[in-house]
Order: sequence, then C-alpha cells, then structure tokens
Amino acid sequence: MKEKSIKLLNQAVADELTAVHQYMYFHFHCDDQGYDLLAGLFKRTAIEEMMHIELLAERILFLKGEVEIKASDEVKKVHDVNKMLQLAADMETSSANDYNQWANECAQNADSVSKKVFETLVEDEERHFDQYDVEMDNLKKFGDKYLALQSIERSKNISNKTTNE
Ligand SMILES: [Fe+2]
Ligand SMILES: [Fe+2]
Repeated sequence: MKEKSIKLLNQAVADELTAVHQYMYFHFHCDDQGYDLLAGLFKRTAIEEMMHIELLAERILFLKGEVEIKASDEVKKVHDVNKMLQLAADMETSSANDYNQWANECAQNADSVSKKVFETLVEDEERHFDQYDVEMDNLKKFGDKYLALQSIERSKNISNKTTNE
C-alpha cells in the first residue's frame, strides 16, 4: 500500500514541478511584455503549486519514502499570451483528472490520508483552471485592448511611483 501511494505522490511532485517551471517562465515573459495582471497571476499560481509540492513531500516522508525532485516535462517556450493561457488551462485539467484518479487509487489501497491530499489538490487545480479560463474569456471578449490596458496600467503605476518619490 505504502509503495503505491509513494509512487503516485512522487508522480504528482514531478507534475507540480513542471507547473512551477512553466508558470514562472510565463511570469517572466508576461512581465517582460508589460502584462502585469497576467504576470502576477502566473507567479501566484506557481507559488501555490510549490505549496502543493510541500504537501506531497510531507506525506511521502511520513510514509518513509524518498521525495524525487524531478520535473515530469520540459518547459514549453510559448510567448503568445493566448497560447500561454491555453496551455496552463490544459495543464490544470490534466492535473485535476490525474489527482481524481489517484485519490480513488489511494482509497482502494486503504490510504485515506493520501486520498485527502489528492482531493485538496483537485480543488485547487479546478480553481486555477477557472482563473485561466476567465482570462481567456477576457482576451476573447476584449482582444488586444485587454492587453493594452495592462500595459497602460503599468505605465500609470510607474509614473505614480516616480512622482511620489
Ligand atoms: Fe498543483
Ligand atoms: Fe494548478
């Protein structure tokens, strides 16, 4: 029972690491292009995925396993905002699907605590999906204006900062 759970928990660690890397990559590129709102969203989500790793690692260690710090995938070098959001939303959907399934597998192996860990993660990943979905909708509705507004907002913030200094 323990080995099976440890394997699933480590698989999740690998996927979470991929998400941290990918979202930080998106964060840098949104920041570079002046899209502060999206840059912030990707950074906050990356931090939440990091907290997921902590949760998984604690459980692995409790089960006397070894935490494997190895990402499951390479970072995809996507620079187009719409494609970033699409990829992020897909990653969340596939994580939620996997974690649902793994929660069931842990339950079948009489490991209800690992099951609970996966259920907590599913809730967060569905919320992450929803956040990306809302931004995709905004982008569809308002197009380039939505991105232009973020750049203008940044300029305003910068000029406010300098006049206040
Ligand atoms: Fe996560
Ligand atoms: Fe997530």
